[in-house]
Amino acid sequence: MADDGLAQIIGDLYPYGKTTKAYRRVPAEPVDHAALLAEIAAMAHAEDAIGDSGTVSGSLYCGDHEHYHFLGEVFDLYSHANALQRDMYPSATKFEGEIIAMTSDLLHGTGVGVVTGGGSESLITALYSYREYARATRGVTAPNVVMPVTAHDALDKGAHWMNIEMRHAPLTGAYLADVAAMEALIDDQTIALVGSAGNYAHGLIDPIAEIAALAHSRGIGMHVDGCLGGWLLPWVERLGYEVPLWDFRVPGVTSISADTHKYGYALKGSSVLLYRDKELRKHQYFAFPDWPGGLYLSPGLAGSRSGGILASTWASLVATGESGYLAAAADIMRTAVAVRDGIRDGIPELEVIGDPTFLIAFKPAGDLDIYLVNDALIAQGWRMIALQFPPALHFCVTRPNTAPGLADSFLEALRGAVVYATQHKGQPARSGAVYGFGGTPQGNMMVKTVMVSVLDAMHEVAPGSPAA
Ligand SMILES: Cc1ncc(COP(=O)(O)O)c(C=O)c1O
Repeated sequence: MADDGLAQIIGDLYPYGKTTKAYRRVPAEPVDHAALLAEIAAMAHAEDAIGDSGTVSGSLYCGDHEHYHFLGEVFDLYSHANALQRDMYPSATKFEGEIIAMTSDLLHGTGVGVVTGGGSESLITALYSYREYARATRGVTAPNVVMPVTAHDALDKGAHWMNIEMRHAPLTGAYLADVAAMEALIDDQTIALVGSAGNYAHGLIDPIAEIAALAHSRGIGMHVDGCLGGWLLPWVERLGYEVPLWDFRVPGVTSISADTHKYGYALKGSSVLLYRDKELRKHQYFAFPDWPGGLYLSPGLAGSRSGGILASTWASLVATGESGYLAAAADIMRTAVAVRDGIRDGIPELEVIGDPTFLIAFKPAGDLDIYLVNDALIAQGWRMIALQFPPALHFCVTRPNTAPGLADSFLEALRGAVVYATQHKGQPARSGAVYGFGGTPQGNMMVKTVMVSVLDAMHEVAPGSPAA
């Protein structure tokens, strides 16, 4: 990537560098609440306007500000409470137990699980449990996990942190996990198999029953990443759409992650990791009786946890209710089907990837540059997700996207974007700049260097911003 491209990406991280003063140290005197609230509200409202427009894929799942406000009120009652201190806050046990119970009921589980801080934490925690379980029961010392290339990257991160070898299986022509290829990667150190319902890139549901049967036949566990689909697909199924079985009704599925902070419409910071049985969950727990600080017992990665997240997540599930979830799922599916069919039947230059439900990924049917398509969509205010291997875009449909007429507006913008890409064929696309570099050792090295610079920049004060 050219230096000016990187400079632009980094520059875009600091829109407030010029409009607000930067705190490089704690102010000598407290700043007035009203002034602070005004400053924060200005940023929040400006940023919300983007998501509330309904032109953003995924990310914001609810979009109902009355719901957010109510959850904020609930959060406020417990924001200061440490859910670790159950003697002081026994309500945390009620909230956590009932969040797990409701999620388990939805996914036909056995009521065994934990609440984590998000999808990544649920996935990484599951890896940890499988590693500990395999060590204890089979003496596995060089653990590996087999998953399709489309399984979420947080699993690669967790494997990297925990010295687990991640073995990636290719996809079939239908963009689903190739179960035969997965089988070929299993050996006596394999601790678990993974499949997604649906996966982040294409929203597709892997052949969970086949993967689970394979896992079962080899005496290992299977995790289903339902972080994205877990709180939506059950309602979609109840509405009568065809959804293959993927939850605990499938024998051999031993754990599932389902994010309440996505289609559960809870505030950001919560997910549920369910286990089929307590034996596997036990291996997630950490007990250390010999610490001078006292007997230490901890279920997962977090130490102190906000009681506000547990209370507001519980409130989100209960306040939405079955009828609320079904109505939301009906709106989401109506929009997703319109987008899917509109592309399939009306835009021959594009091809829908696989047979999706709520997340529609599409790639060029010919030699169109999909990143040029994305450039034109961005120029019209649409924020899709750019994919690679193969180059494609996806639209993860959420409630803010379900406004009447929005699917038609999107399809119209997409048709215009295809015309733009055809007319600008051969020109370098802005939005594909980073992705275009990957896939070769040299390219990957460059991408990593760029990514490190961007991550560094995300943790710094806006350069040159005036001091507060
Ligand atoms: C399928 C899937 N798994 C896991 C995650 C990670 O979730 P989180 O961002 O909450 O860590 C995501 C996020 O979009 C996802 O789509």
